[in-house]
Amino acid sequence: MDIVSIIEDKKNRRALSKEQIAFFARGAADHSIPDYQLAALLMAIRLNGMDARETADLTMAMAESGDMLKPDVQGVPVDKHSTGGVGDTTTLVLAPLVAACGGKVLKMSGRGLGHTGGTLDKLESIPGMRVALPEEEFIQAVRTVGCAVVSQSGQLAPADKTLYALRDVTATVDSIPLIVSSILSKKFAAGAKAIVLDVKTGSGALMPTLDDSIALAQAMVDIGAHAGRSIVAVVSGMEEPLGSHVGNALEVKEAIDILAGRSGGPLKAVSLFLGAQMLIASGLAGTEDQARSLLTDALDSGRGLLKLKEMIAAQGGDARVCDDVTLLPQAPVIRPMLAREEGYLAHVDGTALGLAAQRMGAGRIAKDDVIDPAVGFVMQKRIGDFIRRGDTICTLHAKNEASAAEAEGRIAAALALSPAPAPRARLLYALVTPQGVQTLNA
Ligand code: URA
Ligand code: CA
Repeated sequence: MDIVSIIEDKKNRRALSKEQIAFFARGAADHSIPDYQLAALLMAIRLNGMDARETADLTMAMAESGDMLKPDVQGVPVDKHSTGGVGDTTTLVLAPLVAACGGKVLKMSGRGLGHTGGTLDKLESIPGMRVALPEEEFIQAVRTVGCAVVSQSGQLAPADKTLYALRDVTATVDSIPLIVSSILSKKFAAGAKAIVLDVKTGSGALMPTLDDSIALAQAMVDIGAHAGRSIVAVVSGMEEPLGSHVGNALEVKEAIDILAGRSGGPLKAVSLFLGAQMLIASGLAGTEDQARSLLTDALDSGRGLLKLKEMIAAQGGDARVCDDVTLLPQAPVIRPMLAREEGYLAHVDGTALGLAAQRMGAGRIAKDDVIDPAVGFVMQKRIGDFIRRGDTICTLHAKNEASAAEAEGRIAAALALSPAPAPRARLLYALVTPQGVQTLNA
């Protein structure tokens, strides 16, 4: 087998065999194929595509390029993955709720990337919290508590590590077979048997148009059928931050407020929708109605919040934050940002808001930057709201006044007001299952 003939085949639009694909994935993982040939093949795949069988073979070959965990969690290991949002704290709401309903949530999360927040960074704002648990320890936590959120352990999908870094610098990120194999190889290697995907659509998303986002969702669901995993995908909007809180400790606080019954809104609604799909995919509920009533019971009875406490304690964190959110890091400057104009909030640049939080210190600019867990902002207005001059648009949590003033400029530039009433942003667009695409209007 040689790499030039594999590139040649894909250049000429021929489907690659399982053996050719395995050769490519192995060569990426152990660097026996040089970067220039990997990059040429990536571009040929980006331009000429892969069918469902090739994509499934690539996904499995990438998963098998490193460790394959076989977690015995005494149940169906279920995971949820979002393709990247702002103010998107669904994991911290739904992992405890799903666990409270008997689910076994084994979640390997990432750090913040660019304008999007990372669940690990959010969790580390809780004093003492550890996310780098040894394998035996997190599997034990999933068994006893029902959920654990940890950093990637072991050598999972090393082929993806090589290929993702190359894609980033060769304009080959936006390829459905490459995105599908990248995301799912890591999930399969981590041992997930049931997977709920939250595919974002809109500006700043992996796939800009709704049709492309639905096609990506369908491609991932198809791989589940090929690989014997239960996969469903939800296509959701990212016009504005999902929750009102943007920033690490602030997002933990919002998740606690929802689990404590003090807060609601779109973050709660989307978390319950995704959580219901996780219960169905795990076989713990037969219908969406049944799943929702299980989750609502867990929320209303306080069992969800109790699970979050257990999860935090199992990972070494101070679980008292669940009863007293003031134990979370607090920013020195907390002040409102007031509206200088009036009108309906017609458009929000979610990417720009994420970048504003990043610049305040909530995210990294360079890879080794240290995050400030306390900073960010709490939006008081959503798309469709009418804003009067002097209204509080958001509350800034900044490290100093200069940072607050800079954030104010960035946030103002990210909002567009209109004299005419503006519709609310859509939250959920579609549910894609092996049975087909169901349009959602929420
Ligand atoms: N996230 C991934 O892990 N891989 C992709 O290709 C895109 C998003
Ligand atoms: Ca946007």
